[in-house]
Amino acid sequence: MTTNTNQSWGGRFNQPTDEFVKIFGASVFFDKILAPYDVQGSIAHATMLQEVGILTIDEKDQIIKGLNQILAEIDAGKFEWSVALEDVHMNIESRLTEICGDAGKKLHTGRSRNDQVATDIRLYLRDQVDAITLEIKRLQVALLDLAEKEASTIMPGFTHLQAAQPLSFGHHMMAYFEMLSRDAERLVDCRKRMNSMPLGSAALAGTTYPINRERTAELLGFDRICSNSLDGVSDRDFAIEFLSVASLIMMHLSRFSEELILWSSAQFDFIELPDSFCTGSSIMPQKKNPDVPELVRGKTGRVYGNLTSLLTIMKGQPLAYNKDNQEDKEPLFDTVDTLKACLRVFADMVPTIEAKRDNMYNSCKKGYTTATDLADYLVKKGLPFRDAHEVVGQSVSYGIEHQKDLGELSLEELQAFDDRIENDVFDVLSLEGSLDARDHLGATSPNQVKAAIKEARKHIAQPK
Ligand code: ARG
Repeated sequence: MTTNTNQSWGGRFNQPTDEFVKIFGASVFFDKILAPYDVQGSIAHATMLQEVGILTIDEKDQIIKGLNQILAEIDAGKFEWSVALEDVHMNIESRLTEICGDAGKKLHTGRSRNDQVATDIRLYLRDQVDAITLEIKRLQVALLDLAEKEASTIMPGFTHLQAAQPLSFGHHMMAYFEMLSRDAERLVDCRKRMNSMPLGSAALAGTTYPINRERTAELLGFDRICSNSLDGVSDRDFAIEFLSVASLIMMHLSRFSEELILWSSAQFDFIELPDSFCTGSSIMPQKKNPDVPELVRGKTGRVYGNLTSLLTIMKGQPLAYNKDNQEDKEPLFDTVDTLKACLRVFADMVPTIEAKRDNMYNSCKKGYTTATDLADYLVKKGLPFRDAHEVVGQSVSYGIEHQKDLGELSLEELQAFDDRIENDVFDVLSLEGSLDARDHLGATSPNQVKAAIKEARKHIAQPK
């Protein structure tokens, strides 16, 4: 006679499970969020079992009714989760048996928790990927709107964080739009591989029942079924791919954050973030801290950490399922929640960014940002580029000594460096002239930026 009370596997045990081991081994604390997907999978499984003659119509109906009742109980907060029942799967199955007796006990025919959980995670992640894709689009639309408003706003562009050349602030925003476009593509791509159904792999080798996997896959909206049962239950590549994409998205948001933090400092003073996205200091009354971008930058660390976790969880596992796999969930769920929150807060914040146009403009006048334009001007007057580079270097050095920008030097002063310089040089040395001159596909002239925005709007599906 068994002394182990676990209804699912207690039969072969002669001792009860250690009390702490029950808690240690349980995943219900965190996997209960899979409940809607577990129910969805079970309804499809029961439907298929009836169609192939393993369940009667009455049994299938009782099961589906019971599962829907359970979902309603969970939604209403009335479901009693039990740690002793380990995980979401056994909690639901046990309650189903309470509700509909023997029919409930038949649901697990031809499947195992191993293929069940692998299916649940894919269903969950597929939904989350769709939600995240929409949130990316919302942020992209916000970037397009800001870029459009600021297409002619001139700021200094940097390399090595040293002023380099004048840029359109809109062009700068569009760089982030591009990164997010690639991220959205990566999500679509990883969703394709994710959308394969493990159900039917059973524990690891398949099952002896005449199941119809294609039918279950069709009911669950999977594109195909996993072709190898061992791989079906043990593969977590799809989750790792998602965590990699999530890490890239966070890397992009983190770079953007870093810029917003720098730009909102008194030293740069390029932008104003509204009070609603900032906090103060309890000791320094003058402070207005850019908490939102700082937090996003910080949260990037945990998303990278989650990727490393899952890679490491998988690396030493022999085929097929091992309990190690239970550790896949928290890094995955945490990444989904973190990523959704960061995208949401960015999509809300970007429309509130106020460009301090005069400050950006004045800052651009420092740092000799039109030096390349002067060199290009001389090349067009016949000087080889290397020589032109040298001439402009000398004039910059002169400017530094006399504390004047290139555009502030007189024609005589400039002609001392090369007599080919004429009055038309001042158009070239103006910030507007510099920007307008970069007028080809992908460059920063306001015309090109507006064209890029127009093109981008055609390709982006407007989210609801
Ligand atoms: N809670 C388990 C997990 O998350 C479900 C699968 C359990 N399978 C098993 N053979 N113990 O992985």
